Amino acid sequence: MSLPRYRCNCGGVLDAEVSSSSQQLDNTPDAATGSASWQRLFDERASRLATWPSRRGNALLDASGVWRYRELVLPLPERFVVSRPEGNTGLYPVGTANCGSDRPGHRQIGLYAGLEDFFLKHEGENPTGSFKDRGMTVGITMANLLGAKAVACASTGNTSASLASYAAQAGMRSIVFLPAGSVAPGKLAQSLAYGATTIQVRGDFDDAMRLVEQVCDELSIYLLNSLNPFRIEGQKAIAFELLQQLDWDAPDWLVLPAGNLGNTSAIGKALQQAYRLSLIGRIPRIASIQAAGANPFYRSFMSSFASREVVEPHTVASAIKIGNPVSYARARHVIEMSDGVVEEVSDEEILAAKGVIDRAGIGCEPASAATLAGVHKLVARGIIKGNDRVVGVLTGNLLKDSVTGIAQEIGSVVVEPHIDAVRAVLS
Ligand code: F0G
Repeated sequence: MSLPRYRCNCGGVLDAEVSSSSQQLDNTPDAATGSASWQRLFDERASRLATWPSRRGNALLDASGVWRYRELVLPLPERFVVSRPEGNTGLYPVGTANCGSDRPGHRQIGLYAGLEDFFLKHEGENPTGSFKDRGMTVGITMANLLGAKAVACASTGNTSASLASYAAQAGMRSIVFLPAGSVAPGKLAQSLAYGATTIQVRGDFDDAMRLVEQVCDELSIYLLNSLNPFRIEGQKAIAFELLQQLDWDAPDWLVLPAGNLGNTSAIGKALQQAYRLSLIGRIPRIASIQAAGANPFYRSFMSSFASREVVEPHTVASAIKIGNPVSYARARHVIEMSDGVVEEVSDEEILAAKGVIDRAGIGCEPASAATLAGVHKLVARGIIKGNDRVVGVLTGNLLKDSVTGIAQEIGSVVVEPHIDAVRAVLS
C-alpha cells in the first residue's frame, strides 16, 4: 500500500470532495435534475430495507443508512463496500406538542428541555452502539480499496469498538490506542471481543492520538481517526437520514455533543450539501455541546475564535474527554457558517439530563446526555426558543457505560427468595 496522507503541508486536516463527474452512478439524478428526484431516489432505496439479505444488486447499499446516500458520500459499487449495514436509527418525537398522548414517558424529555417540537435521533442504535459506525463503514471500505492489511485509531472507546468490528468483518488487523483507565468497560470489552490489539496508553486521549499518528506513519498502517476525511464523509449520513425522516423539512436547530469535533464537522458539511442540492430550504443552526471540564472549543467560541484553546480534560463523560480536538478548523467553519453556538455543561448537568433520558425508557451514555443538558441550558438562556423545532443527537447506547450515573439514579435491592421480602420492598 502506498502511504496515504492525512494532513496538509500546513499541518491542517484534509477534506474529501466527490467530483461532479463521479456522481453519475446508477443513472441517478444530477444537481440540475432537482430535489424531488433525489428525495424519491432515497425514499425508494429506504423502502427496500426489510428484504436486503435476500436480494441482489445494490440491496446492501440501499439498506445502509450511509450508502443509501452514496452519491453524496462516496459513490462506489457494492462489491467494494464493507457494511453491516448501519444507520436506520430511530428519530423519537419527545417535545411536549409532538410526542403524542400515547408516550407520556417520552414527554418528560420535552418538559425538561422546555420544547414543544423536539426530536431525539438515537445513534446508539447503530450495530456497535454508537454513531461511529457511519464513518467507519466508509473508512474501512477505503482501507479495503487501498489494500490495507492493518488499521488503527486512538479512541475514547466508541471509535475503537467500531473500528475493531468493521476490521474483523473485512479480515483486517486492528490496533487501538486508548487512554488507560478512562474508557468505559463496555467499550473496552467490545474492542477486546472483536479481536483488536488493544494498547492502553498512560495518558489522555490527546497523547494516544499523537502516538497513533506517529505509529501509522512509521509502520504504514491505515489511520482511521476522524482526521481521515472518509470517516467524515460517512458521518454526514446522520444528517441526511434525519432530514429524510423529517420529510426534508429542516429543523431550526441541530444539537450534538462535541469532543474531537469530527461529528460537528460532518453534520455541518452534510447540511451545506443538502442545501446546495435544494433538498432542504435552509440550514439549521448547529449547537455543539462540550463538557465544562473538557471545553477547548467552547473557550475558543467565547473569544469569537480569536485563539485556538487547549485544555487538560476532566469529565465523567469519558467519550468527550478531549483537550485538543483534531477537527477544530472544520468545526469552527461549521459554527460560523450555520450561525451556530457552542455551549458547555457541567458533569452534574450531564448526569441530570442522562437521568431524564434513561427514565423515559430511551437511555444513552453520559456524553450523549450533553445534548439534552445543552438544550435545557440554551432554552433557559433564550437562545433556543420554546417553539423552535429542534433535533438532538444521542451519540451512544446506554449499555456502553453501565456504571456512570446509574448507581445514584436508581439503586437496586437484593432480597431473600421469599415473597414476604418482596412484599416489604414493594410496599
Ligand atoms: N458522543 C460519543 C458517544 C462519542 O463517542 C464521541 C466521540 C462524541 C460524542 C464526540 O464526537 O469527537 O466527533 O466531536 N468519541 C470519539 C471516540 C472521540 O474515540 O470514540 P466528536
